[in-house]
Amino acid sequence: MPTEVSGALDGNDFYYDPMPGPAFAEALHALRRHGPVVPARALGGALPIFYIVGYQALAEAFQDGERFPPHHAYQIISQPFIGETFMSMPPERHRAWRPAMTPAFRRPVVEALPDAELAAVAHALLDDCEAAGEADLVPAFTHRFAFAVICRLLGLPREREAEFYDWSMDLMFGGRDLEKSRAADAVFTDYVRPVLDARRREPRDDVISGWLDAHVRGEFEQEPITDEAILAHLRLFFTAGATTTSDALGNLVHALLSHPDAWQACVSEPARCADAVEELLRWNPPVAAQPRFSRPDAEVDFHGQRMRPSSAVLFGIAAANRDPDVFPDPDRFDLERRPVELLTFGPGLRTCPGMHLARKNLRVALGVLCERLPALRLLDPDACAPRGVLLRGPRTLPARWT
Ligand code: HEM
Repeated sequence: MPTEVSGALDGNDFYYDPMPGPAFAEALHALRRHGPVVPARALGGALPIFYIVGYQALAEAFQDGERFPPHHAYQIISQPFIGETFMSMPPERHRAWRPAMTPAFRRPVVEALPDAELAAVAHALLDDCEAAGEADLVPAFTHRFAFAVICRLLGLPREREAEFYDWSMDLMFGGRDLEKSRAADAVFTDYVRPVLDARRREPRDDVISGWLDAHVRGEFEQEPITDEAILAHLRLFFTAGATTTSDALGNLVHALLSHPDAWQACVSEPARCADAVEELLRWNPPVAAQPRFSRPDAEVDFHGQRMRPSSAVLFGIAAANRDPDVFPDPDRFDLERRPVELLTFGPGLRTCPGMHLARKNLRVALGVLCERLPALRLLDPDACAPRGVLLRGPRTLPARWT
């Protein structure tokens, strides 16, 4: 018999609390003891939420566009801050726009990207800091690499790349601080608009030129691709694309340097880097939870919970990835694991179109780190543990390698 939400089961706030290191997994295990879908506290208690913490329930929810329509959530949580993109479009428009906006990220195109081209980006970043023998790897490397790659693909300049991660976070979390979000939007738009003007005059071999060309070929079903649509999609690829991969790279470095045997395995056998990436994507995914809302026009019964229309729901990716019914000894970081399908990229209706690029970026960046800095170690692993309950990553990674 479904129950209506009657109050959070736990005092943790699953929106604001940073829950660094193992505290997050412990809190999620505590929730899961009450069932696969549980009422939880978020947003300072301002809004009741349901947290999906079981693997099977989450796999089902990701596929269920009727009860949990993705565009409904994205119209609330992202459209007001980044503009209208295919992510917030209802299914029929999403079907036309998504393929036209993402050809550069399809698997064969990403596979054809030479590793050496991505490795060159990582080498250049390390060239700038290697001689010092120590650095904070977040500003020096993990917050830069994915932005450098996405800028190269989109065709954007990199002059202000030290600021990109902060712009992107401010843009994305407009619900938390609207003023900061507007300021980030103004600076981002000023930065990219001249590029857009230039590509309209003279196309190049980059993603923006491809979007303009797709419009000429009529791939948007006669909808015009306005400058505003292009700017909104640039904001989307910065936020959904580069911020997530930056956090994943930070989590990967932290996980491996906190497990020296796993780091050594990657140093001595570079093929293990791919295993390390897969296990990291399970063990500490950068998108720890994805906000959704239940359908706006009817109640939803889901795994014993009754949800009123438009109830806030957290899709617990990090929680599902540690579900002991699916992953034995789930808290162990284990390169020998051969995982079942991960929910990290949101399987189903809206599965992440950037997953091939993300995996390749992570594998190549890790390979370069292992090759260049085999003696790498963190000064204080506990002090710089990844944090955040929606997006999760380290804020700092002070490290030494001499
Ligand atoms: C490790 C890195 C990444 C992770 C963990 C990740 C995860 C996700 C997740 C969980 C979703 C939501 C799926 C849903 O709502 O059902 C998503 C959507 C999306 N991701 Fe990623 N992502 C990553 C990297 C990237 C990259 C590199 C790009 C672009 C190049 C990208 C572009 C997008 C876009 C555009 C969407 C919206 C898809 C749609 O609504 O059709 N992501 N991603």
